[in-house]
Amino acid sequence: MGDQARIKSFREGDAFVGHLLAQEAAFKTSARGTDYLELTLSDSSGRIKAFLWDLRAIEGETELIQPDAFLKVKGAVVVFNSRLQLKLDKVRHAADDEISDLSCFFPTSGRDMAEMIAEFENYLESIRDPWLKKIAVALLRDDKGKREAFLRAPAAKNLHHVFIGGLLEHTLSVASMAEKACGHYRELNRDLVIVATLLHDLGKIAELSYDRSFGYTDEGNLLGHITLEALWVQNAIAEIDSFPGEIRNQLLHILLSHHGKMEFGSPVLPKTPEAILVHYLDDLDGKLDSVFANIKEDSSAGNWTQYNKSLERMLYKTRWPSATGLAVD
Ligand SMILES: [Fe+2]
Ligand SMILES: [Fe+2]
Repeated sequence: MGDQARIKSFREGDAFVGHLLAQEAAFKTSARGTDYLELTLSDSSGRIKAFLWDLRAIEGETELIQPDAFLKVKGAVVVFNSRLQLKLDKVRHAADDEISDLSCFFPTSGRDMAEMIAEFENYLESIRDPWLKKIAVALLRDDKGKREAFLRAPAAKNLHHVFIGGLLEHTLSVASMAEKACGHYRELNRDLVIVATLLHDLGKIAELSYDRSFGYTDEGNLLGHITLEALWVQNAIAEIDSFPGEIRNQLLHILLSHHGKMEFGSPVLPKTPEAILVHYLDDLDGKLDSVFANIKEDSSAGNWTQYNKSLERMLYKTRWPSATGLAVD
């Protein structure tokens, strides 16, 4: 399976045989009354729509063809409405143990994992405020379950940093910008800002499901990551003798307000300098990641991307090169 073609490299007319992960699977009926199977299939390089027009070509149990299942498929790459799709001749469910390397199926961070963990540890070590350090260590180092999930989770279902390790990469990116901002605005409480950035999306480890395809958990849909992490921080504080109420309020305030507006899920608006900073940096990091990803993945011809719904605009794709390598007389 390791040598099967990657979705990103598919070209019109290619034949394909191999394993892919079903993100979506739906049995539908065409306008002419015939039943067919519509799939969205993925590997770590991308996703593609796939159609099986003759259900008799399914081998094995039809009920096993469902989202989050691995499928073995055979077919050809065709173009429809100027997009590539797979026209399938054969589909069957594939047991998990047929898959030798699961990492072929999940997009992962482009950054080196060991390097990111070392950077994360450095931030934890650098906190001098004893109360803030206790909270950060309790949730991000001593709580092994949370820590392990935090190092793996994506940062979002589909807007930004949608890959394994994405939450850690996003968190480090916000923390690193916050560190620079604290060097610039000396009145900010640096330890409060750093601990808040490390914890600001921790609730996503329970909000998102990411064992197979990325989605929301029931707990995530019902409570949301902001509520979840606020509860965890409060529970951790309750375990620490005489934790000062002032720092509890200020830390919880940053977590609760980090989406910036009530319509974006924050119950309060950012009302401290540290909360305003964390909100803007978080927003900036999510937006820029989505802009870069959008430009990179867009396959339309010309200078502009297709309309980006979340940013409510098209993006200009042409990039003026950075100064290195530019020769001017
Ligand atoms: Fe968030
Ligand atoms: Fe965030």
